[in-house]
Amino acid sequence: MHSFSRTTFLNLFVVCLAVGKATASSKICSWENNKDSSKGDCADGMESSKLKYAPPSISTSPIEVPAKILMGPGPSTPHPRVLQAGAAPLLGHMHPEFFRIMDDTQAWLRYGFQTSNTATLAVSGTGHAAMEMAVANTVEPGDQVIVGVNGIWGERMTDIAARFGAKVIPMETKPGTVFSYEDVKAALEKNPGTKIVFVVHGESSTGTLQPLAGLGKLCHEQGALLFVDTVCTLGGVPLNVDADELDIVYSGSQKCLGAPPGASPLTLSDKATAKLAARKTKVQSYYFDLNEVGPYWGVGGAARKYHHTGMVSNVYQLREALAMLAEEGLEAAWARHQQMADRLYEGLKQLGLELFVEDPAARLPTVTTIKVPKGVNWADVPAFLMKKYKLEIAGGLGPTAGQVWRVGIMGFNAQPRNIELLLVALKDALTHVGFLKDEKVV
Ligand SMILES: Cc1ncc(COP(=O)(O)O)c(C=O)c1O
Repeated sequence: MHSFSRTTFLNLFVVCLAVGKATASSKICSWENNKDSSKGDCADGMESSKLKYAPPSISTSPIEVPAKILMGPGPSTPHPRVLQAGAAPLLGHMHPEFFRIMDDTQAWLRYGFQTSNTATLAVSGTGHAAMEMAVANTVEPGDQVIVGVNGIWGERMTDIAARFGAKVIPMETKPGTVFSYEDVKAALEKNPGTKIVFVVHGESSTGTLQPLAGLGKLCHEQGALLFVDTVCTLGGVPLNVDADELDIVYSGSQKCLGAPPGASPLTLSDKATAKLAARKTKVQSYYFDLNEVGPYWGVGGAARKYHHTGMVSNVYQLREALAMLAEEGLEAAWARHQQMADRLYEGLKQLGLELFVEDPAARLPTVTTIKVPKGVNWADVPAFLMKKYKLEIAGGLGPTAGQVWRVGIMGFNAQPRNIELLLVALKDALTHVGFLKDEKVV
């Protein structure tokens, strides 16, 4: 055992006072020889260190993460093959082997989106990054943009588009309902000169599925582009970017594709890239400027050029998820999601629960919103499911907060065993909170 000299102690004390951070977790001491540093103690008699902070007093054992079933609105539980891909050796982001993986990822993204758009890539970041990149490139200050608002994601787009200088015209409908062709036509006629119309294909805050048929053509006839959020639909719900004439389409990796969050699909039609090429102003974001990042993805056959360090492991995982989607076939994946949603609806009805979206045609199969019955505290059910079953469902968001539970059936989770487990667990939870008193057959 060593001991502090009085002078050392005083010196330390003065330094600590000077920096004003003399807390238990940030002691100034030499931790080099201090085997007990995990407890945050300064060992006796150590020399004072040049470091301002000791390591935090938390365990340095290899990470331990509980296995949970993620059936909220996202992220969804990835397939083990997808997780495994993330553990592959790291390649450099400019290595030819990685370029090949990027090429494959793009090709499968085009298949998933059903498009031949050359401007198809994965944006570094979550869905919001793709959302911002889409806006940054296609919206110029002063552009008139009609934004369909029937939940939080339309609301968010009004904010993001306005930040990029758009003149935003909100087009609203009640949460839990969708826009008709006539609604969009009326909004365009009322607002001549509109450059872009935005709608959310799968509104995860309310559980609606926006019909897209005819909207692209309608927008084009009026000289506008159609901009669509497919974060909760790509890979899980019929989506045909070219056939439906969609111009600006972004998504997420962590929903129906079943990859971890962090690499977000984006595709732009030739009309959208022409709008970008005709800009009078520079894209305000360097990171998201497609003129800068496009060549890194080889968009339009451009020579590969460094822009930012690619999210290598995330791309592996997205590639793997897309490969699995291609193996299954897009139509089979869409049908699987719908079948699982139908089974869920049936089981929920037997439990005496009601769906928030009244019109069956407007129900989003990948995220179901369930009305919280009167007298039940919404938070008790997700808490019970998590504690007893390690199963995640979520409460409402934005306009549905406190009113619904949201259940995601996306990607690897869209399979019978998950739906049956969820229904059994939900029955248990509803009995626990006193909603179900007698035995009901699920
Ligand atoms: C429909 C929709 N759009 C956008 C987002 C934003 O995506 P992220 O959270 O990955 O940034 C989400 C996320 O839940 C979403 O459900």
